Amino acid sequence: MRLNSPQMNIIYKACIKASRSLIRDFGEIEKLQVSSKGPGDFVSVADKKTEKIIIEELLKAHPDYGILSEEAGEINKNNKEKRWIIDPIDGTSNFLNGIPQFAISIGYEEKGEITSGIIFDPIKNEMFFAEKGSGAFLNNSRIRVSNQKKMRDSILVTGGPRFSSKRRSETFDEYINISNKVNIPIRKYGSASLDIANVACGRFDGFWQWELNYWDVAAGIIILKEAGGFIEFLKDSSEKSLLKKNTVATNSKIHQELLDSLIKKNIE
Ligand code: IPD
Ligand code: CA
Ligand code: CA
Repeated sequence: MRLNSPQMNIIYKACIKASRSLIRDFGEIEKLQVSSKGPGDFVSVADKKTEKIIIEELLKAHPDYGILSEEAGEINKNNKEKRWIIDPIDGTSNFLNGIPQFAISIGYEEKGEITSGIIFDPIKNEMFFAEKGSGAFLNNSRIRVSNQKKMRDSILVTGGPRFSSKRRSETFDEYINISNKVNIPIRKYGSASLDIANVACGRFDGFWQWELNYWDVAAGIIILKEAGGFIEFLKDSSEKSLLKKNTVATNSKIHQELLDSLIKKNIE
């Protein structure tokens, strides 16, 4: 761990503690109960257990800080100045199927801006982290986005769409459109935070997905920025526009080309 600010130490400790129980649960995956949260969306005992450990640790350090967490919702709602944004397991479907591609994602937001964050893949033992102005790291090494300038030579990653989304067919069209047009490899790995982290360390050149939640992208925002990438949230005409994150995240060099290739139906 190369960064030593108080916030980073707090997130790091919470993350490591929660990951121990997560790794154990992953080993016993078949015993976990799964309850349905909504269409195409499952929440497992492990999601809640991991979240509980993280929240306890964070509240121990700062009982008054705000928290926005996927399963627990908002805690200390009135503190908008200093907030933790948590996704206890990003990639639950992978987790529940024994696929080792999921992460704990925690961002720290100050006055509306994410200033530090961690995305931790406990199975590969890969910790991505960054702090405003201090660069981005994977374990002990500094990371940078790729230098790829042309989309036709890129490798991209995408996710979704959610089954409940009205944009489902559009997203599919985009996928077909991009892969046909430029005939480049596109992957779907099922963990948006890791997708963004993998753009930050140069494994992928770009990522897009509509209608993500803030907790899917919060830590990724600072990690990608500090690695030299660019993340953008496109507005659309729906009421949910401010809450839902229509995300395009790239190495910055192919950003405009990727934007131009996406079907911009309903995007202002
Ligand atoms: C999901 C993952 C997935 C993305 C979904 C997210 P969850 O998060 O990030 O890659 O395609 O839109 O909801 O539900 O596993 O935390
Ligand atoms: Ca998520
Ligand atoms: Ca989750």
